[in-house]
Amino acid sequence: MLSVEGLETRYGGVAAVRGVSLEVREREIVGVLGPNGAGKTTTLSSVIGLLRPAAGCIRFLGRNLTGLTPDRVVAAGIGLVPEGRWVLASMSVRENLLMGAYLRRDGDGAIAREIDRVCEIFPGLRDRHQQPAGTLSGGEQQMLSIARALMARPRLLMLDEPTWGLAPLVVEEIMRVIKRLNEEGTTILLVEQNARQALAVVQRCYVLAVGQVIFDGTPAQLEREHVLKTAYLGGVSSRVP
Ligand SMILES: Nc1ncnc2c1ncn2[C@@H]1O[C@H](COP(=O)(O)OP(=O)(O)OP(=O)(O)O)[C@@H](O)[C@H]1O
Ligand SMILES: [Mg+2]
Repeated sequence: MLSVEGLETRYGGVAAVRGVSLEVREREIVGVLGPNGAGKTTTLSSVIGLLRPAAGCIRFLGRNLTGLTPDRVVAAGIGLVPEGRWVLASMSVRENLLMGAYLRRDGDGAIAREIDRVCEIFPGLRDRHQQPAGTLSGGEQQMLSIARALMARPRLLMLDEPTWGLAPLVVEEIMRVIKRLNEEGTTILLVEQNARQALAVVQRCYVLAVGQVIFDGTPAQLEREHVLKTAYLGGVSSRVP
């Protein structure tokens, strides 16, 4: 479904991602793990079109998306839940959700049904439509951020550290939602520094370190090869809530 080949993305003269290749097949949950600064966010930002790759190719459902702007990538069917549960703080929950639907052309009725659907997935948002998003708890903001991405009905949903800094019960709820979305047909690319959470739900995973893929395979293979212990657990310990 998604194929990233030889991706190289730079900040000024410094390459943050150096030849990353990865694939996501339809209906999979694929993880991207790796310590601080490994290039996980840079990879997702390159796919969604916020950063322009210096080299490499990004294909989605047979189309070449390399270098396209985010609105065109979203229109092609990819959604991003960005790092840091970014919401429009002074806007209401409802306005945030409507922002997620701004590219839809299928009418107000369809958008209203989509709002109902995301509020069924996240019941906590249902009674808060008029509340400014900035007054929600951290967990609720993360749910709103996911709900907003869902408003565009992405076929591939990319989530950048959706559980970071959240309480264990909220983390569980978010992981349940990710599994449910996948069971209902959405393909998932899940970036997590918290390996334990991610490995419980992903079918395959990639481990990045200093801008390169150092492992790809199943969670079982990852455990056997002790990749995490050496490349990664040292980095994760400081971020596990
Ligand atoms: N806006 C920027 N300008 C310059 N360098 C950047 C910028 N954003 C990231 N970098 C650098 O690029 C490299 C990869 O960063 P990136 O944010 O992609 O890592 P990450 O794997 O998402 O890390 P984290 O787990 O901390 O979110 C790091 O060395 C980082 O310092
Ligand atoms: Mg990041």
